Amino acid sequence: MLLAGRPSPSSRWLLQWLVLCISYIHLTRAQDAAVSSLFVPDTDTVVAFNLPPDSDDINFYVRTPDWYQYTAVGFGTKMADSLMLVLYASEDRQGVTVSPRTTSGNTEPTYSPTIKLTIHESLINANFDMIVNATCHGCQSRLVRIDAASPMIFAVGPALDLSSDDLDARIRRHTAYGFFTADLLRATGPGGIPTGIVGPSTNASSGATIVAGSDGEATPGGIYHDKSRPRAVAHGVLYAIAVLAFAPLDTLIAGALGPRWAWMHAGTATVYFLFVVGALVPGVLVSGEHVATQQFRTPHQILGFISVVAMAIMYFWGFAVSRIKRSAKKRGQEPPQNTRHLAAVHRWVSRLVWLLLLVNVGLGMKLSEQRLVLILAYVALALGIIIVLVPVYFCVWKCSRHRRKKEEQEQGIEMPTIYDHNYYR
Ligand SMILES: *[C@@H]1O[C@H](CO)[C@@H](O)[C@H](O)[C@H]1NC(C)=O
Ligand SMILES: *[C@@H]1O[C@H](CO)[C@@H](O)[C@H](O)[C@H]1NC(C)=O
Repeated sequence: MLLAGRPSPSSRWLLQWLVLCISYIHLTRAQDAAVSSLFVPDTDTVVAFNLPPDSDDINFYVRTPDWYQYTAVGFGTKMADSLMLVLYASEDRQGVTVSPRTTSGNTEPTYSPTIKLTIHESLINANFDMIVNATCHGCQSRLVRIDAASPMIFAVGPALDLSSDDLDARIRRHTAYGFFTADLLRATGPGGIPTGIVGPSTNASSGATIVAGSDGEATPGGIYHDKSRPRAVAHGVLYAIAVLAFAPLDTLIAGALGPRWAWMHAGTATVYFLFVVGALVPGVLVSGEHVATQQFRTPHQILGFISVVAMAIMYFWGFAVSRIKRSAKKRGQEPPQNTRHLAAVHRWVSRLVWLLLLVNVGLGMKLSEQRLVLILAYVALALGIIIVLVPVYFCVWKCSRHRRKKEEQEQGIEMPTIYDHNYYR
């Protein structure tokens, strides 16, 4: 007999049996699902794979926070020649752009239109997770091998916004990356990636494991953080020092000190020149690493080369002019008339080169996508230096002219000579 609200022992047993049965079915379904999934605690990312039998497709599912510029998963042991699936928020931030990319190894990966994807679902949920459920067609042949430990890589970009539908959108270098293996024998089977396996509440790997790479120190979670890029930083910092310190110092010395101090101008000009040429080297090396700069066709690179070539010419031009003056002096003659024009060209082109370099450091910061505050700080500093130095130069010019005039009157010399760096202005 059944009493309301109090099940009899037999019906309770039936209920328990039912619950057990259902959870057993659920469990076996979950266990039977041919899926390998990886959870990366450091980046709070889930990646899951399923390989449908008798097909060359790969079903994949990714859940990853949208605060990274992108999240990428690659089929291989390293970036070079691996197929990588790069995920970033769509332009309206309602969905996710999935861009299959490859690289030959020396630059960032670029979109590979030959890879066809079917996106079953892509969204950004209320928890700011990008979620993608998709099929990569003909992609099993892009795997290194199909076994219990197929090598894979993953990476996340910097914390920058990239909302784009462009499959070839430019991405920055990753800030963290790692290596893992996935059991693709276990992931081979029908049924795709069932929803229960990798829900938003799944925080465990099954059939996939993070493995150590050989890139130095990893986090306890097995993730590698990118070291800062010494080349790009060196390039930028050396140029900033050159244009904000050496250039004004050299110009000041050239203007303020008379011909007797020409050796000092030669010294500061040499340091300035060597600095600019030295700073070019890491810049050229970095250029080769990026698709956008590989051809040396960006305005920053073109302007940079023009400035450095003009500077090199002016550097030797300066020595030539001073040699002409010195040899005329030795012979006790006036230097040829056109020497003053040569000196004026040296002066004005050198000033123009400085201006170009000042502008070009700004263009370089823009090209390397520095933060706006940093660019504005540089512009403020550059303008500040110009505002402070123009009156200083003007004073120096006035004073030295005055001093020279006095010297001439005292010595009874009518005409100033070309040795005066400052007379012909
Ligand atoms: C992914 O999409 C497939 C095909 O539409 C569907 O059967 C499957 O349940 C989806 N999986 C997830 C985890 O959303
Ligand atoms: C999964 O991990 C994230 C952080 O790593 C945490 O916020 C979330 O609560 C976890 N979810 C579950 C179901 O453990």
